[in-house]
Amino acid sequence: MDETTHLIGLLLGTEEDWPTAFETLVARLGPIDDGAGRRHHLATERITMEPFDLRYTPRYHLVVDRLAYWYFLPREWLKKVALMDDVYLLNSPFTFQSMEKHAAYCAMLRLGLKVPRTVLVPHKNPPDNARFAYTAAKYNQPFDLDAVASEVGYPLFMKPYDGGQWIGVSRIRDSAELHRAYDASGQRLMHLQASIEGYDVFARSLSIGAETMVMHFRPEEPMHDRYAVDHDFLSPQVGDEVLTISRLINAFFRWEFNSCESLVRGGEAYPIDYANASPDVALTSLHYYFPWAMSALLRWCAFCEVTGRRPRLDLDTRSYFEIGDREDLSYDEKLAAYRRLADDYFEVERYQDFCASRLPHVDEMVLDWVCSADFDRLLVDTVRATYPAHEHDRFVGHLRGLLGQWVRERGASPAWTP
Ligand SMILES: Nc1ncnc2c1ncn2[C@@H]1O[C@H](COP(=O)(O)OP(=O)(O)OP(=O)(O)O)[C@@H](O)[C@H]1O
Ligand SMILES: [Mg+2]
Repeated sequence: MDETTHLIGLLLGTEEDWPTAFETLVARLGPIDDGAGRRHHLATERITMEPFDLRYTPRYHLVVDRLAYWYFLPREWLKKVALMDDVYLLNSPFTFQSMEKHAAYCAMLRLGLKVPRTVLVPHKNPPDNARFAYTAAKYNQPFDLDAVASEVGYPLFMKPYDGGQWIGVSRIRDSAELHRAYDASGQRLMHLQASIEGYDVFARSLSIGAETMVMHFRPEEPMHDRYAVDHDFLSPQVGDEVLTISRLINAFFRWEFNSCESLVRGGEAYPIDYANASPDVALTSLHYYFPWAMSALLRWCAFCEVTGRRPRLDLDTRSYFEIGDREDLSYDEKLAAYRRLADDYFEVERYQDFCASRLPHVDEMVLDWVCSADFDRLLVDTVRATYPAHEHDRFVGHLRGLLGQWVRERGASPAWTP
């Protein structure tokens, strides 16, 4: 039988937990028979930074990127390997560089999604550009910040148009808070966004390729307690709506590893944040959902490599807008039509068949690993690297408890003590 090895490159920052998990699972996976006479092997390697000739041929077939959002060198390297060598990327640096939160809001508004009212206001302090003063004096209209805020209505959220990690995000109740936050925003461009008050539930969904996990999120809790283990917190309809919105936005921008946030109130889903180039997949925050995330990443990488799925850098916005612009379709009908396009982009049906026929052993393999002493070592090392010494016992116990629950729900028992 013909043998092929696919090298998956990991472009990493400071994280050790999920890369170690992923590397372990890839090593345990074994060969995949594609049913057409070829046996495929996956391998991983951490990518290092060095000068590169634009004409060189990389060894990687697929790259999981967690770095290029912040640094230029890996970003430009990704563009080279995408444009010249057809390397499959999670995610495309092109759309993530140019399409931040703001672009996602704009696209979703045109598609008819329920983004809360959002206004972009000019920055407080001028950019560092000697020519700005002349241009601003000539062309920038004076504006009344209080009037804009009153139009949006209090309470509102002021947040960077391209933000992440809550940096610069504030909840504003009145004019005094508005001015304080605006004065502090400096050169950052800010949105004023109507607050969804008194929402019933915050749904945060993590998508990896054709899989999405919609999780109950509690932003008011400390990091390790934000994801609640909660299976039926949304009605089946709203759960499906949140999944559709997530898949839609990911297919629209070609994001294959992304987390999306919706606030649900009275059965309606309001999307508030849909562009996270490096979604949180830390063991300490995902806990119970961590084995799912690692399995999904493994399955999606295997699917892309073994089936030779082609990376798509081009967007297909027109097909979505043609649906969004129609006046004869209701919101639900539009969502159903977007869902077909998004499912098609992610080849959901083919992916599911692939998992069932080519990767039937993955669930068992992941369960074995989570039960092993090897996994417990990773858990303990991660806690030691994340928290101060006096909290180690508490967090080891917390994580073992949640992972122990995940294991027992699958009818197994771990080699370590939950
Ligand atoms: N329109 C809104 N209505 C109600 N709450 C909001 C709204 N916008 C933001 N928030 C709250 O503020 C938090 C941070 O906002 P947002 O997600 O937009 O910023 P972020 O910097 O991208 O944060 P993260 O990186 O955690 O996703 C949200 O998790 C939510 O709790
Ligand atoms: Mg957010």
